[in-house]
Amino acid sequence: MKLRRSIVIGAVAAATVGALTIAPAVASLTAPSPADQTLRDLGRRHGLAIGTAINVDLLNDTTQPQYKQIASTQFSTVSPENVMKWESVEPTQGTYDWSKADAFVKFAQQNHQLIRGHVLVWHNQLPKWLTDGVTAGTITKTQVRALLKKHITDEVAHFKGKIWQWDVVNEAVSDPWETNNVIKLRDDASKGFWYNNYGPDYISDAFKFARAADPHALLFYNDYNIDAFGSQGADDKAQFVYNMVKDLKSKGVPIDGIGSQGHLSTRYGNFDSIQIANAQNKFASLGVATAITEADVRSLMTDALKAGDSNAVNEAFQAQAENYSNLMQGCLAAPHCLSFTVWGFDDKNNWTTTTDLGSGPGGEALAAIYDANYQPKRALNALKADLAYTGEPYVRDRIPQHPSR
Ligand code: XIL
Repeated sequence: MKLRRSIVIGAVAAATVGALTIAPAVASLTAPSPADQTLRDLGRRHGLAIGTAINVDLLNDTTQPQYKQIASTQFSTVSPENVMKWESVEPTQGTYDWSKADAFVKFAQQNHQLIRGHVLVWHNQLPKWLTDGVTAGTITKTQVRALLKKHITDEVAHFKGKIWQWDVVNEAVSDPWETNNVIKLRDDASKGFWYNNYGPDYISDAFKFARAADPHALLFYNDYNIDAFGSQGADDKAQFVYNMVKDLKSKGVPIDGIGSQGHLSTRYGNFDSIQIANAQNKFASLGVATAITEADVRSLMTDALKAGDSNAVNEAFQAQAENYSNLMQGCLAAPHCLSFTVWGFDDKNNWTTTTDLGSGPGGEALAAIYDANYQPKRALNALKADLAYTGEPYVRDRIPQHPSR
């Protein structure tokens, strides 16, 4: 078949293929490459906030000015990587230190970025005085209940009116491999601190305390390994979270969102974008918003990868880009998915470079969208392309969420 085409300067002529006329959009020839636009601007096309976790100390690190430059320009929402956690804001019982968290908020405001508050109730990064006191028996269970209420009330009140989404409860649910393939609320010695010392009602109470302290923030339950549904039975963590949030909503608990962290590693079998979209939409069917809250995609650090072997790097980064893209497409295809946040954006400082995530400290790393020299990786371009090359009818504007009462 012969394709006849006449090019008109400054515009695009319709190409005629047989009887079919295809009129390309003018924008396709005039728009800049997505690679030359910011994530933030590309996200705006869909009303989607694009975010990152921020390490506040790096904002003032003069040896790597790129950190602040990228943090302030590429993103429209930010999460504090550590400085709003309980151990950071109340290192000594009864004495708050808001300095770093306040500096984080100031940075966000200066750059017109929305804030995801992170995190009010978690079993990790609790102050030592609290965990030691409970172990020693000098802090009783009755006191634990009062302390959690005070912590949530004081912290949410301190930032009242400044937080878009709060991660109220984080990682309360077991993984199938931890509990014999039957998911439950964590109640073991290492991760069951709140269940064991407060009782199972800590989750519903936490949302009520947060709502009482800030009527306008969106209140999220946040967890990992809930990116897609599996069997929908007892071993399916996403299904457990779905059932839990359904139950909370039916009891009038003020919960507004489910955050899927999106911590992935290419060494495990992951999900395609349609499965992820289905999960986002299924959560949203409960009447809550959703978000991708901590996306990163690790590679197993083989000798070849550590040595920078170009084939190994290519293979790893291509697989990584696809996983990032699946998360982004899943979010874009679900109109209640309000934000897509990466958990740090560079391979130099990313938490996976030192953390043991199953293969020893740093054994799975290179998880970010920029390399250690702040050069874009193909994962960054994949995200930009997803934002640029999508639209109606499958990708629509975001549907705003209103805080529940
Ligand atoms: C991590 C931080 O990135 C690290 O700097 C810190 O040492 C440990 O916590 N899930 C969460 C985040 O909800 O708060 C964690 O952040 C990563 C896993």
